[in-house]
Amino acid sequence: LAAALGMTAAMAGACAEERAAVLEASAWSAPTSFDVSQRVLGPAAQPLVALERTGSTVAIAKLGDHKLAFVADEDGAAIRVVDPETLTQLTHHRLDGKPSQLTIGGDGRLWVALRDRSQLVGLELRGDGDARELHEVRRVSTPAEPVGLAASPDGKTLAVSAAWGQELAIFAIPEGRAVASHALAREPHGVAISDDGAYAYVSHTVGSQVSRVPLSGDTEPVALRLAGVDLTPIVRFRGCFMPIGRQGVDFRGGTDNNHHDRKAVQGFAVAITERSVFVPEVLVHRGEATTGGYGTSSSYPTHQPALVQIDTSKIGDEASGEGVSIRVMNKAFLAKQARERFAGGIRRDGCFLPRAAATDRKRGSVLVSCLGTDEVLAFDSERGPLSTSARGRWKVPAGPMGIAVDAEAGTALVWSQFASKLSQLDLPEAPADHAVKKIRYPSTASRPVRSAELAPLPADERQGVALSALAQEGRTIFHGAGDTKISRDGRACASCHPDGRDDGLTWPTPNGPRQTPMLAGRLAEHTAPFGWQGDTKSVSEHLTQTLQRLGGKGLSNHELQALIAYCHEMATPPPKQEQPAAALVRRGEQLFNDQTVGCAVCHTDAGVGSDGSRHGVGSGPELETPSLAFVAGTAPYFHDGRYASLTDLLRDSKGKMGWGAHLGEPDLEALEAYLLTL
Ligand code: HEC
Ligand code: HEC
Repeated sequence: LAAALGMTAAMAGACAEERAAVLEASAWSAPTSFDVSQRVLGPAAQPLVALERTGSTVAIAKLGDHKLAFVADEDGAAIRVVDPETLTQLTHHRLDGKPSQLTIGGDGRLWVALRDRSQLVGLELRGDGDARELHEVRRVSTPAEPVGLAASPDGKTLAVSAAWGQELAIFAIPEGRAVASHALAREPHGVAISDDGAYAYVSHTVGSQVSRVPLSGDTEPVALRLAGVDLTPIVRFRGCFMPIGRQGVDFRGGTDNNHHDRKAVQGFAVAITERSVFVPEVLVHRGEATTGGYGTSSSYPTHQPALVQIDTSKIGDEASGEGVSIRVMNKAFLAKQARERFAGGIRRDGCFLPRAAATDRKRGSVLVSCLGTDEVLAFDSERGPLSTSARGRWKVPAGPMGIAVDAEAGTALVWSQFASKLSQLDLPEAPADHAVKKIRYPSTASRPVRSAELAPLPADERQGVALSALAQEGRTIFHGAGDTKISRDGRACASCHPDGRDDGLTWPTPNGPRQTPMLAGRLAEHTAPFGWQGDTKSVSEHLTQTLQRLGGKGLSNHELQALIAYCHEMATPPPKQEQPAAALVRRGEQLFNDQTVGCAVCHTDAGVGSDGSRHGVGSGPELETPSLAFVAGTAPYFHDGRYASLTDLLRDSKGKMGWGAHLGEPDLEALEAYLLTL
């Protein structure tokens, strides 16, 4: 590569200078473009050696004969460098954006994805002892909203998932050259690369699938479907679904209670071993069509935590469920305590909001962190899908968003973002003969060996980054899985509104089927009233209705205000990097605002507002005009989710919504291009 760029000794000298300078990000563009002005980076001054290739919010690396831990502190917009043994912070590196994940590349550098800036940053360590610091040496653009990262086994490439951009982008490091990009379904999140470097596995927070993306060759990504996977053998084998409490519940009975209808959501994390890929998910069962709430039923859970295991040797090049097995999480673990957490036969202490996962190959375990219940669970990774129970569990500080395992040292680090605490878990002694079955995890929920609060960053460094104190409280309530004040069956707001967005599902409600709306950036005055029917005048009134539907006991006024503050402050998606052609967008905007087409009459404020009135637009009941803010990423569409795409919506509703019956194909394309920019 150096030769290809005509790199000379003189240039190598210039590289040193260049490293000191802050590098401008090259714009994200289709692969093959390579900004040659970004000269080649030599070896890192102090090369880090990764313990794990799969990204997380925390990573452990070897530097010579000691170890360092790196934490992506999203609230503080900083990387914290910590001694993994004592958990003391050694230094921090302030970023100009929110770090979502980090990992260490084969070049010995720390690579960080900046979620809100849609950039990938390369950092290296300089200096000694206490004067050690991170320095930025590379910065490149990624598709919109990079959230997951993984390094290839040779350490020469990074796979970056872009949640809002719906892509997996592959970069060669250290240059940061984009080598490939693959369009994926909605909200890709966790990424892991197989040991042979052939495939990246990508979880999706909505949409019931895991994507397998080939890293070389010209085969297409494959969607591994998580709906309709047969859970019956698991139910029969161990009766694990309803181990205690109510009897007679299974996945097979009745048409409404058909497991083929289950959809998987909350696929935030991926962990990988030599043979298997693990994705913690939550299987959603939406219940009967008539309900007093959101699919609430007393006889079966609407949200069932599960661990998806993919046998990588069985995956073909076609989309199918082959090789995919799903085990229900949290079998009769600690039966006595569990009984108290039951609500009418439904467990309330489940891992409803899994956020991070990591494998411990030495002990044959997968560790999963659960938001809301604030736990880390350990599952067997070697015995196949029939073993469903957690082997061990730890209670951790609020908001566990990342796990890093140091299998040799027998510890795991967990980053709890809400509490701003890093904890060290003690992993059990592993027998030398690799008899993983003999390993004894603590039988009751244990505490971390050590937990340290990473001091807040100086106030002037936090300006404009962090949520207000009230909204932070609200965030905890929003993710309060298992909180009876919110729901009777353990569901949290984030169960249906992951990351403040939507689960892509249509729920039964007393008013009929209603698709979950995105919240982030959509709850301003100009979008009132709320709910598809517009039957609640304020967010506060709407939340009172929500808690009724969920069977929650209700929040205090202060808690309600905190929840509302969070709903207003939650991060909106960053702009899409690849916008449709400007001329097409302008034409679409004209049409949208054209009196004879009429869109803007109802969809006010350039589409993101609402006229606040109900209309019949040929879709059934009269509904209040919804805000179209961020409509590009909220498929499916309409109150009942009848349209899979905007393309379908515009063609089918033509002349029924607005007066656009006369619009031709090019006009509809222009309108769609405009909608994609809102
Ligand atoms: C079971 C899934 C589910 C859960 C859990 C849930 N919601 Fe919703 N949310 C929905 C659906 C479906 C709608 C549309 C309701 C309607 O139109 O009647 C909605 C609507 C909303 C709206 C109105 C949005 C708008 O633009 O009109 C807000 C605000 C909201 N939810 C916040 C919350 C909060 C806060 C929580 C937790 C207390 C929560 N939701 C829990 C599914 C859910
Ligand atoms: C008479 C008022 C009115 C007019 C005019 C109107 N809309 Fe709508 N729009 C609505 C209503 C009401 C809904 C909700 C329909 C439903 O959910 O069944 C809606 C839904 C939508 C949605 C789906 C939003 C979502 O999140 O599912 C899109 C996109 C949309 N409109 C675009 C347009 C465009 C483009 C035009 C102009 C051609 C237009 N609308 C004209 C009232 C209107």
